[in-house]
Amino acid sequence: MERIFSGAQPTGNLHLGNYLGAIRNWVKLQSGYECIYCVVDMHAITIFKEPAELIRSVHEVAACMLAAGVDPKKHILFNQSRVPAHAELAWVLNCVARMGWMSRMTQFKDKAGKNRENVSLGLFAYPSLMAADILVYKATKVPVGEDQIQHLELARDIAVKFNNDYKCNVFPLPEPVMLGTSRRVMSLRDATKKMSKSDPSDYSRINLSDDADTIALKFRKAKTDPMPLPETVEGFEGRPEALNLVNIYAGVRDITTEEALKEVGGQEFSRFKKVLTDAVVAELEPISKEMHKIAQDTAYIDSVLKNGGERADALAQPVLNEVYDTIGFLRN
Ligand code: TRP
Repeated sequence: MERIFSGAQPTGNLHLGNYLGAIRNWVKLQSGYECIYCVVDMHAITIFKEPAELIRSVHEVAACMLAAGVDPKKHILFNQSRVPAHAELAWVLNCVARMGWMSRMTQFKDKAGKNRENVSLGLFAYPSLMAADILVYKATKVPVGEDQIQHLELARDIAVKFNNDYKCNVFPLPEPVMLGTSRRVMSLRDATKKMSKSDPSDYSRINLSDDADTIALKFRKAKTDPMPLPETVEGFEGRPEALNLVNIYAGVRDITTEEALKEVGGQEFSRFKKVLTDAVVAELEPISKEMHKIAQDTAYIDSVLKNGGERADALAQPVLNEVYDTIGFLRN
């Protein structure tokens, strides 16, 4: 069975975009692959984070995975820093990756902005740690959102260069998996921007912790236009808000946009927003209740992450040994 690796940043305040874009896919992929899922606390500190907040966020993301249906017995769920092989391989890959490759990463350019001289070295090296995450398990499939595709291509470039430089075939090339129905969830206030936890307006997003009334209120206030929904996807031209809301509906129902329009095409927003609210509440409510329950029990979460970390470590160690032997590191 092919092996999947994916990582999620420990961020508090998870929202519908995180759920439809990543978490739900992780749950689904469990039926066809051997999955290793990682909360990337080492990536999280590339930008300073208060320790207490880091701990809270790791717990929250892990609780969410478990509530959504990640099975920590059949698969592996752990936090990155428990497995030192990630950091160890990342160092080797830092020596393979080229400065020029890293400088071209759009996420680095966005995050560093005008502040290039003052961001952490870790932020620059972020993609090489990400490559190590994947390659240390020889994972071949990586579910990622669009914004991480460039990093995944870099991971392939690093793997190719390592194999070439050392005339070996240690690393298989990882490929992205993008599930058919995964799509970008945009802000409810401005559908040209991604739904984001950092948007100052809470009305721009549906948080996984929102109750049914809050969800209803947010959709009522969501930006729309005066026309009824189109009957076909061509009708979304110039109507990003309408497209986003229908995509959210399609997302939670797990159907295509075309199929969604067969159900709701032609409806007035006032009516559609009620249908949409019901669908979103039906999907999220059980998860957010379960998430809340699990989040109370941090001892349970810690035990899951610890067990996952031990099993991940056992898989990573032989690969790291193979890499060290290939490089010519003396170890006995
Ligand atoms: N960079 C990814 C993100 O921000 C998280 C991540 C870290 C990751 N390591 C990974 C994703 C390895 C896939 C594979 O979403």
